[in-house]
Amino acid sequence: ELHGSVTIVVLGASGDLAKKKTYPALFGLFRQGFLPKKTHIIGYARTKMTHEDYLDRITHSIKTTIHKDEDETNQLLDKFKSITSYQSGLYDQDDSWKALDKCISQSEHQRQIDIGKKHRVFYMALPPSVFVPVAKGLKKNVYSSEGMNRLVVEKPFGKDTQSSNELGRELSGLFKENEIYRIDHYLGKEMVKNVMMVRFANIFFNQIWDRKYIDNVQITFKETIGTEGRGGYFDQFGVIRDVMQNHLLQVLSLIAMERPISTESEDIRNEKVKVLKCIPPIVLEDALLGQYIGAHGKPGYLEDDTLINKQSRTPTFAALTLWIQNERWEGVPFIMKAGKALNDAKVEVRIQFRNVAGSLYKGSPRNELVLRVQPREAVYVKFNNKQPGLSYQTIQSDLDLTYDNRYTNLDIPDAYSSLLLDVLKGDHSNFVRNDELEQAWKIFTPLLHTIDDPSIKVPITTYPYGSRGPTELDQFIKKYGYDRANEN
Ligand code: BG6
Repeated sequence: ELHGSVTIVVLGASGDLAKKKTYPALFGLFRQGFLPKKTHIIGYARTKMTHEDYLDRITHSIKTTIHKDEDETNQLLDKFKSITSYQSGLYDQDDSWKALDKCISQSEHQRQIDIGKKHRVFYMALPPSVFVPVAKGLKKNVYSSEGMNRLVVEKPFGKDTQSSNELGRELSGLFKENEIYRIDHYLGKEMVKNVMMVRFANIFFNQIWDRKYIDNVQITFKETIGTEGRGGYFDQFGVIRDVMQNHLLQVLSLIAMERPISTESEDIRNEKVKVLKCIPPIVLEDALLGQYIGAHGKPGYLEDDTLINKQSRTPTFAALTLWIQNERWEGVPFIMKAGKALNDAKVEVRIQFRNVAGSLYKGSPRNELVLRVQPREAVYVKFNNKQPGLSYQTIQSDLDLTYDNRYTNLDIPDAYSSLLLDVLKGDHSNFVRNDELEQAWKIFTPLLHTIDDPSIKVPITTYPYGSRGPTELDQFIKKYGYDRANEN
C-alpha cells in the first residue's frame, strides 16, 4: 500500500479519457477521503495550457459527472484543484521528461515527503501509438528511486496476439509485472466485482454451477449509441476488439473459472488464466457479424464523418459462441453478444438452467439467474411458482434483488474510482495479467484475422440503427439451445 504520499501523473491529461474518466474518478476518491494525505496530481500532455485553462477543464469535466449539492461540490472542487497542476511536454523527448521529473521532485520537496515514500503513479490515458515511447521516457527520466512506481495502462493492448505480445515485451523490459496495472474497467463495475461472491458464498449456486445443470450462458452488451465521432478509432478495432476480447471475456472468466484457493490477486488470476487456456479459438461458424445502417434519421456506420474508409466492413455487432473444454463446461455454449446502435442500453449475464428432468410440471419455463451489470445493478432469478389462488398453473416470477430497491443510500462508485483505489492499495485482483492477456488474444486472433482478410469477405449482415440487431440473431441463438420463452 502507498502510505501517506503519492504523486499521480495523468499522461494525456488534455484528452478524452482523462476528461471523462480519470479526473472524475480521482475527484470521486478525493471526495470520499481515499487519496493519501500528501497527494499531488500532475496533468501532462503536449497541449500548451495555462494553469487556469487546465483548472477550468478539470472543473468542467468533473461537474458534468456530479449531480449532488452544488455548494459542497464547489468547495471540494476548490480543494481538489489546489492539489493538481499541469505540465506540458512532448512524449518522445528526454528534455520534456526531465522537466516533468523536476516538477515532481519540487512538489515532493514542498510536501516534505521522506525518502522511501516518493511514490509515483503514472496513468497513461494515451493513444496506443505512444505507449512505448512514453513508458521508455518515464523509466529513463521520471522513475522514482526513492519510492514505489506504478504504471497504469488502458486498452487497446495491441490488435492481435502478435502485436499484444510485442507491446508486452517492450513494457516488461521497462516496468516489472507487479508495477503494471492493465485496466479493464469492467472489472471495476459493482456487479462484476460481485460475481465471485454470488458463486462462492451461496451454496445453492455453487453446487449447480456446471454442465449438468446449466444449459447455456449469455453475456450481452447493448448500446444505443453508434460510433458517431469515434469512427476513426473504432474502425481500426471493431466491436470484437473494442468490448468482447476484453470486457466480456473478463466477465466470462469470472463466471467460468474454478474456485480460487483464496481471494488473493494471484490466486484469482491463476484461475482465470487456467479457464482461458481451456477455450479453443472461436470459429467462423460460431460467429454472426453485423454493421448498422441509417434509420429513424440516425446515420449508418458508413455515413459517419469521422470514418475514413467508406467501404469499411468492420463489425459493429457480433454474436460469438465460445466453448470451454473442461469437465465443468464441456458442451455448454457461452454466447457473447455485443452491439452499437441498438434498441436498448444494457449489460447482463444470463445463466439459463436446464429443464427439470421428469418434472411434474412439464413445459414450465427454465430457471435463469440474471446478473444485470447496468443500468440499475440487479441479481434476479427466474423462478417457477404456483399461481396464487384457486389455480394450479405455474407462473414464472422473479426473486429480485434490484439494488436501488433493496439498499438505501446506494452510492455505487464509478468503475474507475474503484480501480484507481486498487492501484493505490497495490491490489492487482481487478487488473489483467500479462499471461491472461495473451490467452485472451489467442481465443480471438484467428477469427479476427479471418474477418480482416479482404480476400475472404466473411458475411456481414446489416441492421437498422436502433433495432434489436441483425434479424438472424434469433436463429443464431436458438442453434445453441437458448429458450427465448422467458427473456426479460
Ligand atoms: C469502452 C469501449 O472500452 O467501453 C466503448 O471502447 C464502450 O466503445 C465502453 O462504449 C463501454 O463502457 P461502459 O462503462 O459505458 O459500459
